[in-house]
Parts: sequence; C-alpha cells; structure tokens
Amino acid sequence: MKTVRTVAELRAELAEPRRAGRRIGLVPTMGSFHEGHLSLMRRAREDCSVVVVSLFVNPTQFGPGEDLDTYPRDEARDAALAEAEGVDLLFAPPTSEVYPEGFDVVVRVRGLSGVLCGAPDRRGPDHFDGVTTVVAKLFNMVAPDVAYFGQKDAQQSVVIGRMVRDLDIPVRIEVCPTVRESDGLAMSSRNAYLSDEERRRALALHGALEAADAVVARGERDASVVLAAARAEFDSSDVEPEYLELRSATDLAPVEQVNGSTVLAVAARVGRTRLIDNKVLGETP
Ligand code: PAF
Repeated sequence: MKTVRTVAELRAELAEPRRAGRRIGLVPTMGSFHEGHLSLMRRAREDCSVVVVSLFVNPTQFGPGEDLDTYPRDEARDAALAEAEGVDLLFAPPTSEVYPEGFDVVVRVRGLSGVLCGAPDRRGPDHFDGVTTVVAKLFNMVAPDVAYFGQKDAQQSVVIGRMVRDLDIPVRIEVCPTVRESDGLAMSSRNAYLSDEERRRALALHGALEAADAVVARGERDASVVLAAARAEFDSSDVEPEYLELRSATDLAPVEQVNGSTVLAVAARVGRTRLIDNKVLGETP
C-alpha cells in the first residue's frame, strides 16, 4: 500500500488503472479505524480492483466547541490496518491540500441537511455542508466508480446520495451495515471517549432501537406507539435522547406509519460524548 498526500500524486497513481478500465472504490474516512471502517474496506476490496481510502479529519464538519482538536488521530496505526485489508492507496492530505488559501465554496443539500443532526438547535446544517463539501471534493479528486459509507451515519448517506443525484456525480453509493460490539453498541471512533460507566449507559441507544423493532415485529405500525416503546427504554436508563425520530429511510420525511422503509434515528449525549445510532425497522439484523 502506498500513502499519497497530494491530488497530483493521487491522480498519477490512478491514471493507469483508470485507463485500463479497472473499477476504483473509495472509502472516505476520518481515520481512527475500527471494525466498521474495516468492513467498508473489505467490501470495497471484494467489489473493486483498486481500493482507495481517504484519511482526512475534515475541519469544516466540526462546529465550534466540538472535538476537532481532540479527535483521535493515529495515522501509522490506521495505515497498518488498511494495508492488512489489502487497500491499494491511502490518501492522507494535509488541510492545505483540501482547503487551499482562499477556498470559498460550500456544497449544501438544503432540506435534508437541516433535520435530525442538522436541526439548528443540534449540530446545525453547517455540519452537513462540511461533509458534502469535502465528499464532493473527494469524489472529484479520486473519481471513484463506487464509494462506501456506513449505515450508522444514515442521514449522512441520504444527504450524500441526494448530492450525487442532484449534481450528476458519476459514482455509485454503497451503504454498508452498521458494525456493532457484541453487546449491540454501534462502533464509532467517539466510543473511545466513554468511561466504563458511560460505556454501559451508552447501551440505551441500541436498547431503544431494539425495543421499537420488537414492537414493529409484533405488527405495530403506529409511529407514536413505536416511539413510545423506544422512549420507555430511555426512561429506564439515565440517558436523555437529543432526538428520537421515525423518518423515511430514503428521503428522511417524518412518518406516521411505519412501513418497510422507515428508519428510527437516535442521538444522545452520554457524558460529554454525543452518540448516534439508527435502525431500519422491520428488517432482519
Ligand atoms: O463519515 C465520516 O467519517 C466523514 O463524515 C466523511 C464521510 C469521511 C467526511 O469527512
């Protein structure tokens, strides 16, 4: 595996495989790899003949007071893990390569970026502007045939899917299943912030999703009843959800009836750590 830091080096590495018509897969990441990232790399390795992983802690998607400065960074460890998964290229640019002096563009997916995590009293739409702007740039830099994202960031995947559709970006988006710890906690780089006691309390998120899913499995379709089952899980824990919402999995519209494509999305702060999770209800795990 080779590590490249500039767009020029990246394009030079990809020129020959592209000419030869080889399928290029991109796994965009902010590093601090866990099994979730590795599962995306494995999936890309299965589907594509060239696998590129980008590693860039994107400052524009962090709000004031968020964890940009403390976000876990260990490029040597990440590079070793990516190499073990058979990744061909690690693209780890410095900030100045992605955002050169005078950079002045924002890519915004308007409606979808302002709900759930993007609501004004939460992370706000600027968070997703940061994500879509950097992902649009990564798509232009790498020009992948396929890009891989995790279902754990369900809203991010829907927002990026809409950006790709609306801007006619020629890439296929693959959304891959959430990888969980054995007790159900969704893997996240931010889990590293949790104390033992917070790690235990963090199970409330998965518990709420499972409780809602069990109610749906018994035939319940009324959103308020399904939400009440999830809410009861939180009430019996000492975690307060920031939001707990049932939305269409395809366009994030609020739903009153659960159908085959309804996602229950949740965010909660456990101690100082903000966690998110979601489940498409009525699906087998
Ligand atoms: O999901 C992430 O790690 C980031 O939001 C992404 C897609 C790499 C953009 O910085």
